[in-house]
Amino acid sequence: MSKELMQKNIERAQQEIERNKDFVSQGKLRQHYHLMTQTGWLNDPNGLIWFRGKYHWFFQFNPYSGFWSMMHWGHAVSDDMIHWEYLPVALAPSEWYDDHPDGGCFSGSAIEHNGKLYLVYTGVTNRGNGFEQSQCVAYSEDGIHFEKYEGNPVITPPEGVPGHQFRDPKIWEHDGMFYLVCGASRNGMAQALLYKSKDILHWEFVNVLAESRGEWGYMWECPDFYPLGDKYVLMFSPMGGGERTSVYLVGDFDYHTGRFYNTVSGEIDWGFDYYAPQSFLTPDGRRVIAGWGNCWDWMPFWKDWGPTYREGWCGFFNLPREVILCDDNTLKFVPVRELEMLRSDEKTDQDIRLGDQEMHRIDPGCIWEMKLIVDLKRTTAKKIGLRLRAKEEMKTEIIFDLEHGELRFDRDHSDGWSRGVAHCPLNLMGKDVLDIHIYSDRSNIELFSNGYQNNISCNVFTPYEDGENSVFAEGGDAVIQQIQTWDLERVIR
Ligand code: FRU
Repeated sequence: MSKELMQKNIERAQQEIERNKDFVSQGKLRQHYHLMTQTGWLNDPNGLIWFRGKYHWFFQFNPYSGFWSMMHWGHAVSDDMIHWEYLPVALAPSEWYDDHPDGGCFSGSAIEHNGKLYLVYTGVTNRGNGFEQSQCVAYSEDGIHFEKYEGNPVITPPEGVPGHQFRDPKIWEHDGMFYLVCGASRNGMAQALLYKSKDILHWEFVNVLAESRGEWGYMWECPDFYPLGDKYVLMFSPMGGGERTSVYLVGDFDYHTGRFYNTVSGEIDWGFDYYAPQSFLTPDGRRVIAGWGNCWDWMPFWKDWGPTYREGWCGFFNLPREVILCDDNTLKFVPVRELEMLRSDEKTDQDIRLGDQEMHRIDPGCIWEMKLIVDLKRTTAKKIGLRLRAKEEMKTEIIFDLEHGELRFDRDHSDGWSRGVAHCPLNLMGKDVLDIHIYSDRSNIELFSNGYQNNISCNVFTPYEDGENSVFAEGGDAVIQQIQTWDLERVIR
């Protein structure tokens, strides 16, 4: 009976997508190469996995409008993480434990077991006593059509954890056992809870894997836990963590105690629009993450979700990044090499000398990639700046403030819509060069700098496509060793 109800709800969602997708595909602000939906709203990456020879990526999805509501799991497959084919909706609300209009099938993850694809997700309901979140399972023989487990929910909130603060299971396998970590809140502090199971269906609590003492908020959304080199990494998106949107901790993990001992912490991305990253392993063994390119209304810098709802959509994934452990146990996040296949029309300029207040023009437009290297030894300027998409009164400015050791991404005058200056410390001690790598797409800019450790992703809804781009120096001279630019192919329609 309930199997039929989910099927009916998926068919209804598919009809809605078919009805609207041509209109939505005309949207002027749609991205050109960032994964997005055919219609409606998208948030977190869910269930990222390589399964039977393809990348399967799922996402939090409301096919019915450009606003968050009634969460489904959308589904897309790819051979290369760049070119995507949409598959039918994988999960739709249908059961007493996941059928609330302000709930549904919340975030989770995927694993292959005995040739089947298993999804673990959070069901959200409200039966009159507030929201209840519990962990649930669905499985599929073909990786396309899913069935919810009749014994759901498989984990309910433990004593002391409020029913509305227990979600986002991330599953993995180790030594023939399955483990999952999920986000929770206890006594107003965030926790990551660890569970184990022999069969993915029956779970036993192991320990509090890690917790906040307030410095990282009161609730962790989308925790993710994985080995990297000889260390373990915990990532999460903290609620109540101030301006932090996505944090990583590096340390050691003991399977006997179920406790993570972290020694290093850092930001995955310092921008306004990078949230809920999830990781997975590529078939060649890379640890890759994808994050959601937007933010929530409870964040201190939030203004709104941008103007794209007028075009019948909202949300995309930021570019996939490979996670790399550095010698000092910090992490860097490097755009995956597959992105290079989008490049065309390479241009290289070398040894550009800029006097104080001097500008060097780069090609106009907003769909491009750029790499730039500043020779710090021959630079006396106090600031190096990038002025992007400038036209009349509008511009987006990225400032490398060498005098004060700070990087700023200023979108106060970007598009007449967005606001705010994202910023982070820029530690160039002992460095001879400043490296800058930027991906610009129709509605966002992703900046990578300082060895891919100072990354800032922000949405910019520029109303025109032909703004000027340039690099400039301030307070002295600058020597740009090299600027490379590429046009990027449009792959999302
Ligand atoms: C994170 C999040 C998750 C939740 C989902 C709901 O962005 O709030 O905690 O599962 O989005 O769509």
